[in-house]
Amino acid sequence: MVFGNKNHLVGLDIGSAFVKVAELKMSKKGNSLEKFGVAQVAEGVVSEGRIMDMEGLAETIRNLFKSQKIKEKKVAISTGGHSVVIKTISTAKVPEKELHKTIRSEAEQYIPYDIDDVNIDYQVLGESEFSPDQMNVLLVAVKQDLVAEYIELIRMAGLTPSIIDVDTFALQNLYETLPENDPEQVTLLLDVGASKTSMNILKENNSLMMRDMMSGFNQIHEAVSERYEIDLEAAGDIILGRKAPPDDPGALVEIQQAISNAWCAEICEVVHTFESNANDMKLNKVVVSGGGGFIEGFAKSLASELAVPIAGINSFEGLIVDPKRFPDEMLEKAKLQSPIALGLAMRRVNDK
Ligand SMILES: Nc1ncnc2c1ncn2[C@@H]1O[C@H](COP(=O)(O)OP(=O)(O)OP(=O)(O)O)[C@@H](O)[C@H]1O
Ligand SMILES: [Mg+2]
Repeated sequence: MVFGNKNHLVGLDIGSAFVKVAELKMSKKGNSLEKFGVAQVAEGVVSEGRIMDMEGLAETIRNLFKSQKIKEKKVAISTGGHSVVIKTISTAKVPEKELHKTIRSEAEQYIPYDIDDVNIDYQVLGESEFSPDQMNVLLVAVKQDLVAEYIELIRMAGLTPSIIDVDTFALQNLYETLPENDPEQVTLLLDVGASKTSMNILKENNSLMMRDMMSGFNQIHEAVSERYEIDLEAAGDIILGRKAPPDDPGALVEIQQAISNAWCAEICEVVHTFESNANDMKLNKVVVSGGGGFIEGFAKSLASELAVPIAGINSFEGLIVDPKRFPDEMLEKAKLQSPIALGLAMRRVNDK
């Protein structure tokens, strides 16, 4: 075994636009970065949270493992978006052995899907602040058909799915290990991806609020494709700077600005609702991850609306990194897109 530990696994973040993979080596000195790579997902392979081309995506994953020379087959993956419901609920205190049944029946009223179609997991957070007879429970429900689809995908890629996590938890998992994490501060962890945005407000490493939204970079891809009358693949090349716009380059900047302003308004509304329900608690800072962080104007407009410091996540800061293998420029380029894969790579096979 490469790392001499049977619990060892690889973190695999299967985004709808980019797949990211990370492998860490854990020792007494700390976690060191062994492998990291990113591969673009072809246009149309994933659409509206569903995999449209299983074999195409499996091949992207296989090629990524090959190009990064990753031998380990056990992976931790994660899901998010429409098919996952995360909620903190209050329920009567019951003995341990009745808990599963109680939570399952409570869950029915919070989950917009048939209870028989979801996998339910939960964690008791502690006594309710409102009543000693009640307890707070973090409820996570994932649609079974989605989990089955991802498991099939991983098998098609020749890998073994060992852990299925939730994107937001994996991001939080990584963030808690970073030197920039100051648990005292009320921090918004933001992930603006291609197809979705997730928000997680933390204090003392506990989540106070989680929210998933359907905004994301795909809106920019669609607007660019319409504006220049080109297909989505060509729009992607322009957005990623591989090709120049066919005319009026100013339109590209305008589109990015208009759409990121709309993201900003949506995020600010959630933050304001949080603050008005959280007594005197005020947000102290925002940490941005995901492709949305590549738009400079986005962080600026968020900072001016929320009046708190905004920074891109420094995903690799808590790791031991060999600069010969991972030069600074490479890490700088990858820092926004890597945290979920790194958070997943920190999991161990027997983790829950
Ligand atoms: N310099 C850049 N490098 C990579 N992606 C960029 C860059 N600039 C803009 N983007 C956009 O960011 C998006 C990719 O971000 P990210 O990797 O966070 O998405 P994802 O995780 O695949 O999406 P999701 O989680 O929503 O499924 C793409 O839409 C891409 O076009
Ligand atoms: Mg993502």
